[in-house]
Amino acid sequence: MALQSSGSPSTPGGAPAPATVLRFPSGFLWGAATSAFQIEGNTHADGRGESIWDRFCRLPGRVAGGGTGEPACDHYRRWREDVALMARLGLGAYRFSVAWPRIFPNGGAPLNQKGLDFYRRLVAALREHGIVPMITLYHWDLPQALQERGGWAARDTALRFAEYAALLFDRLGNEVPLWATINEPMLITYAGYAGRTKAPGVGRPWQTLAVAHHLLLAHGLAVRAFRQIVSQRADDRLAPGIGIVLNLRPCHPASPHPRDARAARLLDTLTHRLFLEPLFRGQYPEAALRFFRRRCVSLPAAPGDMAIIAEPTDFLGINVYVRVLAKSDLIMGAKQVPGPGPKTAMGWEIYPPCIGEALALAREYTSLPLYLTENGAAFTDRPGPGGTIDDQERIAYLRAHLAEAHRAIAAGIDLRGYFVWSLLDNFEWEDGYGPRFGLIHVDYATQARQPRASAHWYAGVIAQHGVPME
Ligand code: FCB
Repeated sequence: MALQSSGSPSTPGGAPAPATVLRFPSGFLWGAATSAFQIEGNTHADGRGESIWDRFCRLPGRVAGGGTGEPACDHYRRWREDVALMARLGLGAYRFSVAWPRIFPNGGAPLNQKGLDFYRRLVAALREHGIVPMITLYHWDLPQALQERGGWAARDTALRFAEYAALLFDRLGNEVPLWATINEPMLITYAGYAGRTKAPGVGRPWQTLAVAHHLLLAHGLAVRAFRQIVSQRADDRLAPGIGIVLNLRPCHPASPHPRDARAARLLDTLTHRLFLEPLFRGQYPEAALRFFRRRCVSLPAAPGDMAIIAEPTDFLGINVYVRVLAKSDLIMGAKQVPGPGPKTAMGWEIYPPCIGEALALAREYTSLPLYLTENGAAFTDRPGPGGTIDDQERIAYLRAHLAEAHRAIAAGIDLRGYFVWSLLDNFEWEDGYGPRFGLIHVDYATQARQPRASAHWYAGVIAQHGVPME
C-alpha cells in the first residue's frame, strides 16, 4: 500500500511550500456527498410523490425559518451544471441519494419512469466524467403514503423498501459501483420516531425498537435482492458492492465520575451498538434490550429476521462529525452534552480524533473496507478579497480530519474513500437554510454557485492525492 508523507519543494514563485503532504493509498476515492431532499427542489416535478419531509416542513415551528424542500439547490434542473462543477474539482466519487417518492410516488408500484430517468441521466453523466457514483437508497425521504401506513414502525415498510431497492438494482445495478442502503438509521429512529426533531417527528419512544428493527430488516432484504440481481466480480475493486451508512459519534464520559462513565457506555450502546451488533453479529446487545424492556419498549422480531439483517455486505460507510460527552441522567440514564473545544456553526465540537475513534469502533465489528461517507462542517462565511469566500476554518477542519484518516490508514485500517459533506450548501433538515456545509456556496435566490476557497483546496488535495499540512 503506497502510503507516505513527503516533503515538497518550494513553488516556482518562491512562495513557501507546505512542509509535508500526507499521501493516500492508490485507489483511495476522493468524494463529496449530498442527499436528494436537501438539494433537488422541484418537489412536484414529473410526478414525484409527497415525502415525510415535505409534510414535516409544513408543520408549524418544526424547521428553522419555515424552510422547505423548495427551492433547495434546484439540482433537479441544474444537475448538469453541478456535475460540471464536480468534474472541475476533479472529484473521484459522488455520493447522492435517490428520492423514493420520485421512483414510486405512493411507496410502491407503479413506477414513475420520469423520476427514474433523472437518476439514469445523472449516473450516465457522472460516468462520462469518470466520477464514481455512490447511491444512497434511503436518505430520510420516505413516501408519505407509507408513513400513513405506519412508516418505519410498520414491518411492511421494510418489504416495500426491498421492492424499491430491487427496481433500482435492476435498472442501475451494474452502472453504480457503490450502493448504500440506509443513511443513519440511528437518527431516523431517535430523532424521527422516538423524538420529534426530524420527519416524521412523531415523538413515540415506544416505537424505538420497532423502527430500528425495520430499518435494519429493510437493509438486509435489500442486500439479499442485490445479490440476486447484480452480478459481482470479486477481482474488481470497484465491482458493484453494497453496504449501510451509520453515523458514529464517539461517546466520552463528561467527568471522571463512574456515573458518567456508565452513561457514556449506555449512550454508546444505544446509538452505535444497537445497530452494529445485529448487522455484524446477528443479535441485539443485551444491555440495550434490558434498557428498553424496563421502559416497555418491545422488539417485533420474527424468526429469521436476524439472519437477514446480518446478511454479509461489501463495505461499511460511516458518517463522522463529532464526539459527544455523556452525563448520567436520572430519567434517561444518559444525556449528551457538547465537548469543551471550539465549535462549528452547528455548535458541534471540533474534535478531529473522532475520525480515528469512529474507525476503531467500526473495526471492533468488521474487517470490511470502510468509507467515510460524510465528514465536514458548517461555518459562517467571511468574504475574502475580490468576492472570494475564504473559508479557512473549513479548510482547517478538513485538513485535521483527513490527517486523522491518514493516521488510521497507516495504523492498518482499510479505509477506501472520503466524502466531504457537502458538495453544495443545502437544506439542513430542521435547521433549514441557515447552516452552510458546502464546498460550493449556493445563493438560494439566484441559484448561483460559487466554489469557496475550500473547494479549491480540496481540488488540490485530489490532484496530488494527498493532504498538504502546514
Ligand atoms: C448527517 C446527515 C446529512 C447532513 C449532515 C450534516 O447526519 O446524514 O444529511 O445533514 O448530517
